[in-house]
This record gives sequence, C-alpha cells and structure tokens, in this order.
Amino acid sequence: MIRITGLNKSFATVKGPLAVLREVNLQVHLGERIAVVGTSGAGKTTLMHIMGGLDRPTSGEVLFEGKNLFALRGPALDAFRNRTIGFVFQFHQLLPEFNALENVMMPLLIAGQSRRQAAIPATEMLKEVGLASRVEHKPGALSGGEQQRVAIARALIQRPRLLLADEPTGNLDRRTSEEILTLLDRLHASHNLTMVSVTHNDLLAARMDRTLRMEDGCLKSEERK
Ligand SMILES: Nc1ncnc2c1ncn2[C@@H]1O[C@H](COP(=O)(O)OP(=O)(O)O)[C@@H](O)[C@H]1O
Ligand SMILES: [Mg+2]
Repeated sequence: MIRITGLNKSFATVKGPLAVLREVNLQVHLGERIAVVGTSGAGKTTLMHIMGGLDRPTSGEVLFEGKNLFALRGPALDAFRNRTIGFVFQFHQLLPEFNALENVMMPLLIAGQSRRQAAIPATEMLKEVGLASRVEHKPGALSGGEQQRVAIARALIQRPRLLLADEPTGNLDRRTSEEILTLLDRLHASHNLTMVSVTHNDLLAARMDRTLRMEDGCLKSEERK
C-alpha cells in the first residue's frame, strides 16, 4: 500500500539545518497494523505527518498505491488526504465549541455536505464507537477516553483506508487505553483499515502485526520477544 524510500527531513533552525529523518525506508502492506516506538524527539510525529501528506520531505519518496504522494500539491493533495487517510492525535484536537456530533460531521461539512446529510453517517459512526448517548456533549463534558472515541469517529467518517494514530492512548489511564485498543482492533477488522500507530504503550505495540523502532531519525524493525 505504501512504499517509502530514502526519506530525509531537515528543519531549518537558527543553528542551521536539523536532520530529523535520515534515509527512512518502509513498506506498509494492505491491512497491516504497524506500531512505531521510540524515545521522544526521535522523529515519529514527523514521519507520521509526511506519510499522511501533512508535511513534505526534504528528499525521498512516498508512494501510495504506486502514486507519488508529493507529486500532488495544494487542493489535489488535500482532496486525496481527506478521502484516503484518517488521523488520530495524542491530544484529540476536537473543536471545543462544537458537540460530539458536529465534531464528527466536520470533515463532511468541509467537503460540502449539508448538516442533514452529514448527521446520518456521523450519528452512525458515534454509535459504532460506543457514544450513541453522548452525541450532544461538547468535548469539555466528555472523559478523556470518550474524547478519543470522538476523535476516532471523526478520523473514520470519510471511510479512509489508512489510519495514522500518533500516541492515541498517550494521555489515557491503563483501563481506558485498553478500551481504545479494543475499539481500534474492532474498527481495523470492520473497516478493512491499514494502521500505523506511534505508541509508548507496550500493550498496543504487542497487538500490532509489526513493531518498528525510531532512533534519532532512523527506522529499524524490532524483533518480537
Ligand atoms: N517544525 C520544526 N522545526 C524545527 N524542529 C522541529 C520541528 N518539528 C519537529 N522538530 C524537531 O524534530 C525532532 C523530532 O520531532 P518529532 O518528530 O516530533 O519527534 P517524536 O514524535 O518522536 O517525539 C525533535 O527534536 C523536534 O524538536
Ligand atoms: Mg511525537
């Protein structure tokens, strides 16, 4: 599904260029679930952003089903990303002024659907993540786990084929993390998702098909114990 070759990313800083990704190569197969682990600052979030077309590499290639992601620009890249890739972040990044239903509808509204149209799949998606009784709650009135469920529902509302999750359980207690992991397992199966997830959670990593370790911008595959 995805083939990343010779990926480098540097950021310009006052002290000159800072290399954050160094010659990263990675293939992600259709339906696969990959965990990316590594210390803070290793480059995990940068890699996720580039894989998802949110940031551009300094050099190297990301092929998505054979198509060069960065040959697309501007609106074409936005459209491709919105249809194909869902994102879940560590801090759910829900809009505080809007209720759960509106947050989940938002990608559809932005894509030009009416509220009435968008409400139908959004309600269905909230039911699927176990929040049928919380559709009118604003994020501030939801628990951390519930907020993350809303964020997952929002990520999946356009039926993406790839889900990128950046520490989806990073702020949750152990039990709530387990519940989110069980939900992601279920959604992986029911939505035919391919999943790449950054995590510090060994339980999450162990439930994936493969674990990769990011160290100082280099990506290495990790042996299963
Ligand atoms: N926009 C940026 N400008 C400069 N440096 C950045 C920028 N974004 C990230 N970095 C640096 O790149 C390194 C990797 O960051 P990140 O990918 O967020 O790591 P991780 O997610 O593994 O903790 C860090 O040292 C960070 O400070
Ligand atoms: Mg990060």
